[in-house]
Amino acid sequence: LLEKDFLYEGKAKRVFKGEHENSVIIYYKDSATAFNNVKKGTIVNKGIVNCKITSILYSYLKENGIKNHLIETLNERIHHCDKLEIIPLEVIVRNKIAGSASKLLGLEEGYSINSPIIEICYKSDSLNDPLINDFHGIALGIVTRNELDYIYEETLKINNLLKEFFTKCNLELIDFKIEFGKNNSGEIILGDEISPDTCRLWDLSTGDKMDKDRFRRDLGNVEETYLEVLRRVELVGEKC
Ligand code: C5P
Repeated sequence: LLEKDFLYEGKAKRVFKGEHENSVIIYYKDSATAFNNVKKGTIVNKGIVNCKITSILYSYLKENGIKNHLIETLNERIHHCDKLEIIPLEVIVRNKIAGSASKLLGLEEGYSINSPIIEICYKSDSLNDPLINDFHGIALGIVTRNELDYIYEETLKINNLLKEFFTKCNLELIDFKIEFGKNNSGEIILGDEISPDTCRLWDLSTGDKMDKDRFRRDLGNVEETYLEVLRRVELVGEKC
């Protein structure tokens, strides 16, 4: 990776110019942040683990009809991806109540709900990614009604596929965050990563938290847990 090709740096990744005009190179870092950058640290080899998990999940999703930005995995920390103009929304899916939803609604973590909840947050570090609704998204010109309908439809399909995959890993997919962007042809494509940084995963047998909450809440065994999730995802991925 050459500094002259450097484009920008996020909290967990560095992005470089790609091999052609419409692609980018994404490098996965070990740095970990939580609570919008208030808590900072390193999870040793997290970049390798998240890069690998995302590769496996993205090829699984692709095989099941979900377009995503991954072109190829170049090495253990590097993805070659379609260049996307990211839609500034964090799309969150909840299968059970946890995290911010448990605060918002005054419900205990693990509370069962009748159907998945989709939330959208406006991506803005300075505003702390505020929770918004469809009206905000459309009125502010972030997305059109049709685009949002497509995003929701695709998101529910992704949720079903991921739930099925993680169940085979003996993990319960409590919630997760995804992002979409527009490619060169204006098509809406799944981008970013899917990893223990962006999902809540609870062990189906013990209920143990197997995700970034171990870092956020100082639960210990952070690195070991990320490696264990990778191990299980690799085993299931091989059979897909
Ligand atoms: O914090 P909250 O409960 O809203 O998070 C819901 C899900 O979205 C969690 O799985 C969390 O890891 C993910 N998330 C994320 N990036 C954010 C906010 C939430 O990956 N900026």
